[in-house]
Amino acid sequence: MKTFDEVFGRAPDVTASAPGRVNLLGEHTDYQGGFVLPTAIPQDTTVHMGRNGTAEHRVYAADLERHARFPVGANAEPHFAQYVAGALALAGVQEGVDVHVTSTVPMGAGLSSSAALEVSTLRAARELFALDLDDVRVAQIAQRAEIEFAGVNCGIMDQMASSLADARRMLRLDTRTLERETLPLPGGAQVLVIDSGVPRSLAESGYNTRRAEVEEASRLLGVHELRDVTDVQVVETLPEPLNRRARHVVTENARVLAAVNADAAAFGQLMNASHASLRDDYEVSHPKVDELVELLQTHADVFGARMTGAGFGGALVALVREGAAEAVAADVLAQYDGPGRRVVP
Ligand code: GLA
Repeated sequence: MKTFDEVFGRAPDVTASAPGRVNLLGEHTDYQGGFVLPTAIPQDTTVHMGRNGTAEHRVYAADLERHARFPVGANAEPHFAQYVAGALALAGVQEGVDVHVTSTVPMGAGLSSSAALEVSTLRAARELFALDLDDVRVAQIAQRAEIEFAGVNCGIMDQMASSLADARRMLRLDTRTLERETLPLPGGAQVLVIDSGVPRSLAESGYNTRRAEVEEASRLLGVHELRDVTDVQVVETLPEPLNRRARHVVTENARVLAAVNADAAAFGQLMNASHASLRDDYEVSHPKVDELVELLQTHADVFGARMTGAGFGGALVALVREGAAEAVAADVLAQYDGPGRRVVP
C-alpha cells in the first residue's frame, strides 16, 4: 500500500481519523425525526492531508489503489472521491489539497464506511485550515456531502455516530433536536458484529422506496413526521403496506426509549423485536441475514440480535454475554451456510 509521501512526494500537513458505527437499536427512524442508539466500532478511516498549492484536489484511496482529481469546489468522479469532494466543498475549503485515505471499516456492510470517510476528511480540513466547526457541525456537513455529492438521501445517524460516539458507550440521539446523551452498555454484555457477506445490492433503491413510503404515511396521518405518532393504533387506518411501514417506525422509536434503562436481557428482547419488525413490517432484511440472526438468537450466550444499518444484506449486531463474543461467533459461523465473518470485537 502506497504512503502519502510515495504518492505526493512529500509529507502530509495533518492526519485525522474517524470510526465506523454499528447501530444497536433505532433503525430506519432517523429520516422521520426519530430516536437512534448507535455506538462507534473500533475500525476507522484515516486521512492524511496537505496543501498542494493548486486549484485542484487530488485524492488517493490506498486500499482501492485508485486516484481522483477534480477542481476545488466541484464534485468528483469516481464515486469514492465524492464523499471527499462534498466534505471539502461544503466546509468551504478554497485551496487545493492532496488527500490520502486508508480504512479498516468494512465497505458496503452497513457499518458507515462513507460517514467515516466524510468525518475524517472534515476533521483533517478543520485542523489544516483552522475551521471553526464543532463536532455536530462536522456531522451536519458530512450528511450534506452524502446527500448532495454522493446522491444518497440519508438521515443524520451515521455522521453523528462517527463524529460523536465512542466504542465503549452508546449514543442515544434524538435525530429531530440532536439532543443526545452517552450511556454505558448494559452490564455484563458486549457487542458482537458479524458481516453476513451478502452484498447490499438493493440497498439504495430499497432505501429510497421506504423513505417515500413513510413520507406518504405521515402525510396521510396528518403529522409532520412519524416521530409525532405516539399511539400505534392510528397506523391501522393506513392502506397496506404503509400501515406496516409506519408501525415499524412508531414501535422502533418506543423500543429505543425503552432501551435506555434496560438490563442486558431486556435490551436483547428489544433487539429481537426490532429485527422481527424490520423483517416483517419494514421488509428490509434478507433471508441469509435472517438465518444468521436466528442462529444468534437461539444461542445460550446471546441476549439479542438483529440486522443493522439500512439492511438488504450486510452486517448484523448481537448483544452477548461479556467475554463470550468470539466463541459465539465461531459457533454461529460454523453453522452458517455463507461467507460470514466476525467484524467486532
Ligand atoms: C443508513 C442511513 C442512515 C439510517 C440507516 C437506517 O445507514 O445512512 O441515515 O437511515 O440507514 O437506520
